[in-house]
Amino acid sequence: MRGIILAGGHGTRLHPVTRAVSKQLLPVYDKPMIYYPLSVLMTAGIREILLISNPQHVDAYRQLLGSGAELGLKLSYLPQDRPRGLADALIVGRDFVGDEQVALILGDNIFYGPHLPELLRAERERLVGCTLFGRTVADPQRFGVAELDSWGRVVSLEEKPRNPRSDLAVVGLYFYDNEAVARAAVLTPSERGELEITDLNRTFVDRGEARMVSLGQDCAWFDTGTHDSLLTASLFVRNLRRREGRSIAQLDEVARAMGFVEGRDGQRTVPALAAPGTQ
Ligand code: DAU
Repeated sequence: MRGIILAGGHGTRLHPVTRAVSKQLLPVYDKPMIYYPLSVLMTAGIREILLISNPQHVDAYRQLLGSGAELGLKLSYLPQDRPRGLADALIVGRDFVGDEQVALILGDNIFYGPHLPELLRAERERLVGCTLFGRTVADPQRFGVAELDSWGRVVSLEEKPRNPRSDLAVVGLYFYDNEAVARAAVLTPSERGELEITDLNRTFVDRGEARMVSLGQDCAWFDTGTHDSLLTASLFVRNLRRREGRSIAQLDEVARAMGFVEGRDGQRTVPALAAPGTQ
């Protein structure tokens, strides 16, 4: 499976902070925001990762993360010439994905959960069509919203509905089989002029090929697209650090724990035992 991190966009909700700086380079407590989604892909066992950002910011990411070799990764970078929508990631990244499956993660989504690495690896194994991850929220109007039937199957998906049919938000992490690349290529822009990820996901729902996996209450999730949510995420990371001594998105630790690089003692740790940033 290949991984794509989408780290462009307008960032208008964070102006003036993001007028000259890419949002996903802003700090979330002690690390650049982009470290967090990158570590999620790593804990899922994904090593070939494409980072997409605005043309003026791609070099800053390259400067920050380089080739990825030190982390046992193969990182590449591509510009999105304008923010055409989330599904455009699969058009920009078409050659990178090739014939493989793909995980798309939004550069401003932060996840933390002790069982998340195992969950993601299990979902990779069983992927058919697309796998969406959901979380109940108090403000579903801000997100893609899924409605499930009594069997837990997705029956509808709506992007930022005024009257949500459920409180189950679709978080910014999506697993797709290779079919998604061709489907993204024929999407038409929504009323707001974007290639919507929800429209792409709906093509899988319509064919009964979408699976919804709940992140569970022990998994924290933040969309850091607003000043408040960015601050909340920073405080969460700080509290974990101060109260429990846990560090999230410590990329070198994750790389060692996943066996992508050798540990200090020359041994590889067992990936199945590795959780992100826990020691
Ligand atoms: O956070 C989860 C939500 O993310 C989902 O529930 C929604 O279904 C999904 O549409 C998305 O909603 P947002 O309103 O948060 O999307 P936003 O426009 O903020 O873009 C998410 C990230 O992707 C952000 O870091 C900017 C980046 N982006 C966005 C667009 C539209 C790009 O890199 N390129 C783009 O063209």
